[in-house]
Amino acid sequence: MTWKHENLLGLEGLTRDELTFILDTAERFHEVLDRPIPFVPALRGKTILNMFYEPSTRTSMSFAMAGKRLSADVVGFSKSTSAVKKGENLLDTVRTIESMRVDGVVIRHSCPGAAKFIAERIDAFVVNAGDGAHEHPTQGLLDLFSARKRLGNLDGKRMVIVGDITHSRVFRSAVFGFTALGAKVSVCGPPTLIPRELKTAYPFVDIETDFDAALEKTDIVMMLRMQLERQHKGLFPSIREYRKLYCLTAERLKKASRDVVVMHPGPMNRGVEIEPGVADGPNSVILKQVRAGVAVRMAVLYILAGGELER
Ligand code: CP
Repeated sequence: MTWKHENLLGLEGLTRDELTFILDTAERFHEVLDRPIPFVPALRGKTILNMFYEPSTRTSMSFAMAGKRLSADVVGFSKSTSAVKKGENLLDTVRTIESMRVDGVVIRHSCPGAAKFIAERIDAFVVNAGDGAHEHPTQGLLDLFSARKRLGNLDGKRMVIVGDITHSRVFRSAVFGFTALGAKVSVCGPPTLIPRELKTAYPFVDIETDFDAALEKTDIVMMLRMQLERQHKGLFPSIREYRKLYCLTAERLKKASRDVVVMHPGPMNRGVEIEPGVADGPNSVILKQVRAGVAVRMAVLYILAGGELER
């Protein structure tokens, strides 16, 4: 397969072959991570800049690790200690850093479209590490990687994504990725947290109103973080009510007829959207998702940088 894209801004529009190519490349890097010395010289001489305008643990750490495992020079940028604090805008910041010669920019920003905005204005390749409520493509890829590893093949598999769909970039990347690989995606959550235009924007996505009924027929359940910071907006009655209707408990999971794969992008609110025993239980692949994050980010950086894989 010939890779044609200069950047990774979202999973929307990526073909089954392109997604499979990234995941197969990530499988090779996943093996590298198990080696006593988990490094390859694939991106030696390249410089990757990680720009995080929003907080992150998993994504920022794993992009830094991915770059280092590929032998690239990785430069970190933090909004709080940069000239952004003095009012420098996004484009000036990126152009300033680009003039020092970087090959790739990884960016997380609160504005949807921020990664695209930058990609259209600089020569380095750009990876979207989450732009507002738009997309989080490498999260979608690590979700696909983890589900595929557990289930073998996603054709005909059912997935339900539960919680705050409206504000979720994880949902948007997952829906494009899982659908392209042949899975049937549905959503479940408080009606106030499911966008009104969902059926128009994603006619192939079903809306489930009863979580227990949805669990009975699914192969994968992805619990989204309840964004507690939005609670004051009155989007759901109370945490107690939310927990009663949408928390993934051991009791709920026991009633499901299949061996359901449990996913969560993190960070989790234990005891709100997921019971601790389920998060840490045998159905959970949550920590495997985190580990897969390093491998898929290695694959993405490697493919976009056009590196040579020496094994
Ligand atoms: N899943 C995810 O994006 O987590 P972080 O915010 O910690 O990067």
